[in-house]
Amino acid sequence: MRFTPRSGAARSLVRRGLVAASVLALGSTMAVAAATSASAAVACSVTYSTNEWTSSPGNGGFTANLTITNVGDAVDGWTFAFMFPNSGQKVTLPGWSANWSQSGSKVTATNLDWNKTLASGASTSIGFNGTWSGSNPTPPSFSLNGVTCNGTSSPSPSASPSSSPSASPSASPSASPSPSSSPSPSPSTSPSSPPGTHVDNPYDGADGYVNPDWSAKAASEPGGSKVAKTSTAIWLDRIAAITSGSAGDNHMGLRDHLDEAVRQDAANGSKPLTIEVVIYNLPNRDCSALASNGELLIAQNGLNRYKTEYIDPIAAIMADPKYANLRIVSIVEIDSLPNLVTNLNVAKCSEAKSTGAYVQGVQYALNKLHAIRNVYTYVDAGHHGWLGWDTNLGPSADLFAETARGTTAGYASVDGFITNTANYSALTEPYFTIDTKVNGTTVRQSRWVDWNQYVDELTYAQAFRNTLISKGFPSTIGMLIDTSRNGWGGTARPSKVSTSTDVNTFVNESRVDRRIHAGNWCNQSGAGLGERPKANPAPGLDAYVWIKPPGESDGSSSAIPNDEGKGFDRMCDPTYTGNERNGNSMTGALANAPVSGHWFSAQFQELLKNAYPPLS
Ligand code: BGC
Repeated sequence: MRFTPRSGAARSLVRRGLVAASVLALGSTMAVAAATSASAAVACSVTYSTNEWTSSPGNGGFTANLTITNVGDAVDGWTFAFMFPNSGQKVTLPGWSANWSQSGSKVTATNLDWNKTLASGASTSIGFNGTWSGSNPTPPSFSLNGVTCNGTSSPSPSASPSSSPSASPSASPSASPSPSSSPSPSPSTSPSSPPGTHVDNPYDGADGYVNPDWSAKAASEPGGSKVAKTSTAIWLDRIAAITSGSAGDNHMGLRDHLDEAVRQDAANGSKPLTIEVVIYNLPNRDCSALASNGELLIAQNGLNRYKTEYIDPIAAIMADPKYANLRIVSIVEIDSLPNLVTNLNVAKCSEAKSTGAYVQGVQYALNKLHAIRNVYTYVDAGHHGWLGWDTNLGPSADLFAETARGTTAGYASVDGFITNTANYSALTEPYFTIDTKVNGTTVRQSRWVDWNQYVDELTYAQAFRNTLISKGFPSTIGMLIDTSRNGWGGTARPSKVSTSTDVNTFVNESRVDRRIHAGNWCNQSGAGLGERPKANPAPGLDAYVWIKPPGESDGSSSAIPNDEGKGFDRMCDPTYTGNERNGNSMTGALANAPVSGHWFSAQFQELLKNAYPPLS
């Protein structure tokens, strides 16, 4: 379907399957305090953390995340203010989670409706992007409703705004500096946190679990040993995947993996270990496609079975105290909530929406998983070629916020979001950005970009995070990007920007994502392994991860009978000429592919060959 921005038509698109400046993250978190009024009860503490980058010597940008904690009496309506120490520091409006303004060096933020009331002890997270020139020092003090924050609630007659303590990590009860590379304020991210503590970024300072099953398959392929020790996720894609297989199906169950993770954790010294588990079994799963349909149906009591036969046993195993020191990352239901925004024309998706089954299933999973201290939840947020149009991104963010608000812990039940799961969208397009113009024509007008607001996954994930924060999520949320198969190296990778003055030719010659259409998602020919898993790779990002295990098929290229509920989706057929979701283009899928999840040696070889960064 073609998107016409002026008509405001909603973009209905593809599932998993459509130049960032180089940034230097100089994260800093500083807890800063200020005072109390003699008369009363306004008292507050503030943490102010930034991620900075330099765009030219002496100039750059930054993201500032602040958490205001009301340590006095309840506040109904607030004005928060501070002075930038340096005249070169500027807020880029609009900021998020408050009405921001700046006059000279003075910055003011007033409440929005939803965070107007701050109960005693409550916090709210607000933030903004900014620019700096010269340097970017932390403001020395902050005020709430005219009262300088110093983190204490006992009225102090002598306190005055001008006598507030200067910035100091030890000046506030909530003070706790986080590691410098952490993209978000993280009171407990210190590598020295006791094992099992719920930290801000579970990847920070940790090793990743190596799945022996996947590792053995990778190692058995020529050249595969170069990547066989890479951490990949465990997919619990059916009820039977939770327990160990028997006769003829000797897969490891969840306990086997967690036991092995405890062993790997014990063997790696004092570093924590992160293990990723994909929660993927909603009733009417993957409602807009066929290749990964699952075993449960809404019409056949699927939601109850999901809760009692799938989520409950998983949560019971994860809560076993012998796993309490592991950092268990759960990837919650890919291809689910976004389908309720863009694919309601598909009967199975509209049923998922009208019955509430997807939302209730995700809420149930979040409630159970978040209740376990060492389990982290990351909810699927599609990819830029699916939700990258404002008409899709805003409603998706609203749906995520609504879903989180309906859980027992509210926004806190979500640690972050993941994009590009099992997809192929390039992490970064090095030769053009969304702002590039060719002979006066924006690249957005090209057939490839098709009016999308993003050209790559990193800019999309970062912008999505800001939108989610503006909808109410705390600034502690971090993003993950699945980089397992979005490398786009090899001989077809362009090495320079095109000189064409035709916008379509320019984009086609410049883009590193070599798919035929950005809506193609199945076993893509020409794809390579992407960035290796890495913590804190960019501002706002908790990690690059390998969720889709490279070498496992996305779907069969022709119909193959199976007992897994998997259908045949023609997007996996290399001879199919496409549909409106991929601009009626060829699918670019590899031939001779097995059913989704099964080992596909030819694809693994192709991913090795086209790895970017290249394998050493
Ligand atoms: C399949 C799952 C599989 C997963 C990882 C999905 O597309 O439907 O069965 O476990 O990919 O390969």
